[in-house]
Amino acid sequence: MADNFVLPLPDDFHAHLRRGPAMAAYAERHAASFGRALVMPNTKPPVASASEIAAYRREILAAAARASGGSFEPLMSFKLLGGMSRSAVLACAQAGAVAGKYYPAGATTGSEDGIVDPESAEEALDAMQEAGIVLCIHGESPEAPALDREARFLPVIEGMLGRHPRLRIVMEHISTVESLEFLRRAPRRVGATATAHHLLCTLEDLLGGELDPQLFCRPVLKARRHADALREAVLRGEPRLFFGSDSAPHPRSAKAARRAPAGIYTSPSAIPALAGFFEAEGRLGALESFVARTGAAFYGLAPPRGSLELIRGPWTVPEELDGAVPFLSGRSLGWRLGRIEV
Ligand code: NCD
Ligand code: ZN
Repeated sequence: MADNFVLPLPDDFHAHLRRGPAMAAYAERHAASFGRALVMPNTKPPVASASEIAAYRREILAAAARASGGSFEPLMSFKLLGGMSRSAVLACAQAGAVAGKYYPAGATTGSEDGIVDPESAEEALDAMQEAGIVLCIHGESPEAPALDREARFLPVIEGMLGRHPRLRIVMEHISTVESLEFLRRAPRRVGATATAHHLLCTLEDLLGGELDPQLFCRPVLKARRHADALREAVLRGEPRLFFGSDSAPHPRSAKAARRAPAGIYTSPSAIPALAGFFEAEGRLGALESFVARTGAAFYGLAPPRGSLELIRGPWTVPEELDGAVPFLSGRSLGWRLGRIEV
């Protein structure tokens, strides 16, 4: 068995870097695994205008410049707000946004100001289609029972596809067989991201034994059959299904509070954990398309430049990094992160 493995530098098509004092550490950590990341706009304040896109990009680039190599590229997104006008959307596209993010109001962390009435986003969706930018959707109906929310939202996506015949859509962090089947039936302008945690963990890991708030996220982890279907899909190289970490750090104290927020800090360990999984299934070669090819092709971006070395472990994931508890903390993984070459 080789004791290292070189991947094209992975892309992350769904990342939360936050804003404020903690952001620099999260961005640096991200830059240790990824060359590019689509940065989610559910920050405080939200990224919902051309000027906020420019300001947030500057903040991230300044932080990432301090990371080794300094070659990290944030791909910017903006948050769709109800009633957003065509001109506001076109200005965001002009400011360099590659995507706009649709959060149903109340569906997840930082979505209080999301969309209440889908009708109120129609003008913005038309403008996104016109500008050729991608609509990223947190596809959950907040009013449905927790485990049914994703499947219940699928008809809303169906409607959007019908009304906007050229709009490109990414179903974010899909967690169910129903979403996978929807993706397979959908036109080629529909893609989806999958996280490491929805592939590697199930509802049993969250609450089958002692409750593990570190594994609490939206969409909530699902039963084994859903994770199995997603695993099988990525191992086979499912078209238009690509990696988005949904790394969503919350301070350790917040996760330990009586009401724990949804979100898992996956960026420190996602790539080593995925390498272990793909290798155990005898498909280490397929990891490359999942984390470094399929997503860039869907977004119409050049393939990643540079490479990431993975070094054979064992590596015990630390109990705390950057003030948060990383995904799989305390567990021993077969791979750890090595050098980035650009
Ligand atoms: C994310 C966060 O904390 O910002 N939380 C999560 O559980 N995934 C928001 C999101 O992507 O849903
Ligand atoms: Zn997210």
